[in-house]
Amino acid sequence: MCGIFGYSGNKNSNDLVFNGLKRLEYRGYDSWGIAVLDGNKIYQYKDIGLVKQNPKLKKLPKSNVGIGHTRWATHGGVTKTNAHPHISTNGDFTLVQNGMVENFDALKRELRKDGYKFESQTDTEVIVKIVERELKKNISFKKALMTAFKRLEGRNTVAVLDAKSNKIYAIKNGSPLVVGIAKDGIYLASDSLSFSPHTKKIIVLDDYDMVEIDGKDYVVSNIKDGKKKKPEIRTLKYQYEDIDKGKYPHFMLKEIVEQQRTILYATDYNEKELEPLVKQIRKSRKVYLLGAGTAGFAAGQIAFFLRTIAKVDAMEIKSYEFKSYLPVISSKDLIIAISQSGETADTIEPLEVFKKEGCKIASIVNMYGTTISRMSDYEYYTNAGPEICVASTKVFTAQSAWGYLLSMTLAGKYKTARSKLKKLTKSLDEMFSKKSFNYIKNKICKTLVDKEHFFILGKGENASIAYEGALKIKEISYKHVEGFSAGELKHGVIALIEKGTPVIGIIPSGEHMDDSKDLISGMEQVKARGALTIGIGASEYSGLEIFDYYISTPQINTLGSIANVIPFQLISYFLSVLLGNNIDKPRNLAKSVTVK
Ligand code: AGP
Repeated sequence: MCGIFGYSGNKNSNDLVFNGLKRLEYRGYDSWGIAVLDGNKIYQYKDIGLVKQNPKLKKLPKSNVGIGHTRWATHGGVTKTNAHPHISTNGDFTLVQNGMVENFDALKRELRKDGYKFESQTDTEVIVKIVERELKKNISFKKALMTAFKRLEGRNTVAVLDAKSNKIYAIKNGSPLVVGIAKDGIYLASDSLSFSPHTKKIIVLDDYDMVEIDGKDYVVSNIKDGKKKKPEIRTLKYQYEDIDKGKYPHFMLKEIVEQQRTILYATDYNEKELEPLVKQIRKSRKVYLLGAGTAGFAAGQIAFFLRTIAKVDAMEIKSYEFKSYLPVISSKDLIIAISQSGETADTIEPLEVFKKEGCKIASIVNMYGTTISRMSDYEYYTNAGPEICVASTKVFTAQSAWGYLLSMTLAGKYKTARSKLKKLTKSLDEMFSKKSFNYIKNKICKTLVDKEHFFILGKGENASIAYEGALKIKEISYKHVEGFSAGELKHGVIALIEKGTPVIGIIPSGEHMDDSKDLISGMEQVKARGALTIGIGASEYSGLEIFDYYISTPQINTLGSIANVIPFQLISYFLSVLLGNNIDKPRNLAKSVTVK
């Protein structure tokens, strides 16, 4: 996690770094800091909490070169001292880091023995001290930094502002780093979105690449062999000028409503574009879908579509549980990685291992030029635009819809899939109406606000939706919510139901007779034990007496499952508004989990 930003050029770096950090805040919002150069002196400002203006920040000298950082605490609490940048003892250089120095303890002990003292509790300060120790050997700053970096274990990326040379140096390993090439100068950041208004031309650095930025010039080299590289300059498809909430009070609500469009963007692939992956799936022995958190539930949903629509032997693996699959995985298998950020460490690690085993890799990612996309033999994008709220909404439906299109294409029903997807998005209108928002906020959420434990039941096409629905409500409302396959009810879950316990059942349409019957009978059983019952799904069941509340969703064949997740997103949102929680930046979470 954490976000890194840097700029060197002929514009005012103070403002550019500040605005860049605001765009990177989703990566960590415990604390932040900015360092700029004036002559050969470094000036810096650090603060805890959100990136915001402050008279002291305004007093920093105006500069053309600067770096900044947003922190998601790993080593040491949320304090100004622990915030980055960490400046060297003599003030000659200052450093920001994204990642985790796994051998931090050993290195710190070694440095203490050599007489070094530490002000912060961070692993970052350890890097600063190793560089200082190297510099005592009278070597160049660049050499000292490279030597120090090679001592670090784990996934780490650093950016350093060196006062003597007036340069920014940055080295990447594991955690992402992208260089932006603009007319006015060179940008450096953890993602391309943060400098998107300034350029579409980017270089995605490889592991162990170092970039040396001097004014408007840059040089990329590999620190392992010391050789200069001619990196590929990619041009991004989209440029996002303004990332703002528009007419909405929160990014979350904006992103929920955007789903009508984003489902179509994610499925805007013609058959030719899907063909390479379709062919690969056909010749693969087994398809594993890989993801964590919401992306892990999308993996479950896509695997369901692949099995039931395309008859493909597909199953999901939670990224962080990949090890037990190693004995059975073969080079004949295909891995499809699902990720919004494309930088999730838990997903990158198994991909590295599976790639070594000879598996082919495909991915569906939302951000461009990321580590996961670059590792893939088949690269696809959800194209849902920036998702700023930490809780993923539009990207989940985008990933699932893409999986549906892929499965239907494999089944020879590409055209039907496209028309059903269009029909689905049109029929979402009603869910985003004032009437529907009022019902969810004022009837359902006002009832839920005082409850502590909720349960969600789904089955078949709605099993992953129940898990994702529960995660969504947990993340923002901090309520204890569990999603279950309805089949689990009688095997233990029902013991948790007492008078007033909210249970939300996802009811598919009558077409899926067995599943809807099972769900209805499950809801009857919890109602009989006094549960507060909410139904989400096919309108044909909205009048049943067993439901205290009911939200009807459009049921277009199995696509109903994608529509069914939206009421959970809305419940999560309105419940958290009533609770007064921080909607877009919920406590303890970061948008992109780039550390293990
Ligand atoms: C989503 O609401 C979560 N914040 C989280 O579970 C997320 O989906 C997970 O960390 C995976 O991220 P990715 O999609 O960027 O790989």
